[in-house]
Amino acid sequence: MSFSLPYELISLYTDLNLKSNFYWDVTMPFVIKFLSVLSFFIFSHLSFSFDQSVDFETAIKRQENYSYAYLKKNISPPGTQPGFVVASPSTRDPDYFFHWVRDAALVMDVLQAYEKNQIKRDQYLQNYVKLESSHQKKNKLTDQGEPKFLKNGEAFFGPWGRPQNDGPALRALTNIHFAKSLYDRNRAAAEQLYRPELPANSPIKIDLEYVSHQWANPDFDLWEEVKGTHFFTRIVQLKSLKEGAMIAKKWGDPEAAKWYATQQNKILEQMIQFWSEDQKQVFSTIKQVGGRTEKVSHLDASIILASFFREPKESWSFNDERIMLTFFKLIDVFKKLYPINKDSLVAQKLNPTWPELGVAIGRYPEDVYFGGQPWYLLTSTFAEFCYRNANALNKTSQRTINFKDSNLKLISQKYLKDLNAPSWKKLGDEFLARSIFHAGAAGEMAEQFDKESGSPLSAVHLSWSYAAYLSAMNWRKKL
Ligand code: NOJ
Ligand code: NOJ
Repeated sequence: MSFSLPYELISLYTDLNLKSNFYWDVTMPFVIKFLSVLSFFIFSHLSFSFDQSVDFETAIKRQENYSYAYLKKNISPPGTQPGFVVASPSTRDPDYFFHWVRDAALVMDVLQAYEKNQIKRDQYLQNYVKLESSHQKKNKLTDQGEPKFLKNGEAFFGPWGRPQNDGPALRALTNIHFAKSLYDRNRAAAEQLYRPELPANSPIKIDLEYVSHQWANPDFDLWEEVKGTHFFTRIVQLKSLKEGAMIAKKWGDPEAAKWYATQQNKILEQMIQFWSEDQKQVFSTIKQVGGRTEKVSHLDASIILASFFREPKESWSFNDERIMLTFFKLIDVFKKLYPINKDSLVAQKLNPTWPELGVAIGRYPEDVYFGGQPWYLLTSTFAEFCYRNANALNKTSQRTINFKDSNLKLISQKYLKDLNAPSWKKLGDEFLARSIFHAGAAGEMAEQFDKESGSPLSAVHLSWSYAAYLSAMNWRKKL
């Protein structure tokens, strides 16, 4: 982007120079210098890598290839054990050279939905299960709630927000999906992943036992900052117990199936506590007992991510009105918060095949980590939310949503032209465009991008940023 203006200036200069006018020869270099300094100030808030010659459909496809290639580079990188998913190759400011249980489970679950080659897919997943079973059995400070592991396979013993109980639930889900896909091809191997014996000694059962006994205790949230009871964590625990009950039943462990189902129902009954009728939004944390205290809005983008762990039409799903209200509130908040959101037409002006850029999304408005910036993975998650809604609408005869809540009707009109699938898809594309617009010239995605300049920031090549992008693309393809 910054290249385009100086280039135009240079050609302007040469054109003028042809006239070989003394006045121009002397003053033009100064004019150029002045204009390029000026253009730096005007355009420095824009991404430097936007390639205006590439149309939108080509750009998203290209980003898909980049994302998958970078993601694979972060799996078992040199110096680590097979199955190690490095959160980011960055080793300082911040040091992310760890295998986070949450990041790894989410990334591997996307990989198994995405990788078409069954042999490769099985190999990736087998390595992952093997490393995770070793992690499960290591000596640790907070049992299966331990957040991250070192490249030598040992647990991390430094000070950290622990336990983080979304991790084992997410890991159980990824392993359950793998077990189910193996079942018809290699039943013996599938059965090794869940065995009824107690004390639990198989990958899935170890996590389900932990989740089903520990879920009611306070823990640290997915952002590793707040200790209490979290919407995201509860939803993934609920989901793991639900799928866990089904696998326990099928794998010949009926008593366990009953126990998991009972705990699942208990969680479900308590979910209503996260809804604030006064504020008309879902709260990300209730019953806080420790950690950071800035989040007075109780708004958090993780609520949107959580909604993907519910089926459409179920409570708390992406088409639940309470989740939708929270979704639009988050957009409103981040729109005002990040200066970069002011200019939404920048890509479209340079290449009309591009949509307007959607609002860049961060974790929560009061975030101060790296100065509180938008995140690629969350902006892509907002795209996925729209694609999922478009998809759900395509599957019903109703075609347009009829919101019961009048607030929701009002707030949604700011971002959606109609309440039908094409409008949702359009909004999804806007978020996706925002995510790509701030990626590096070769599709690099860090953890965050600068709210003023739009340049990548914090941990480089964050695995989860790529996984979230691929996941959004997977949903877009269904439309
Ligand atoms: C590191 C954590 O990973 C991050 O989520 C958090 O925001 C910062 N520490 C600050 O507490
Ligand atoms: C900080 C994020 O807040 C947390 O969710 C993540 O697990 C770690 N970074 C590693 O990517």
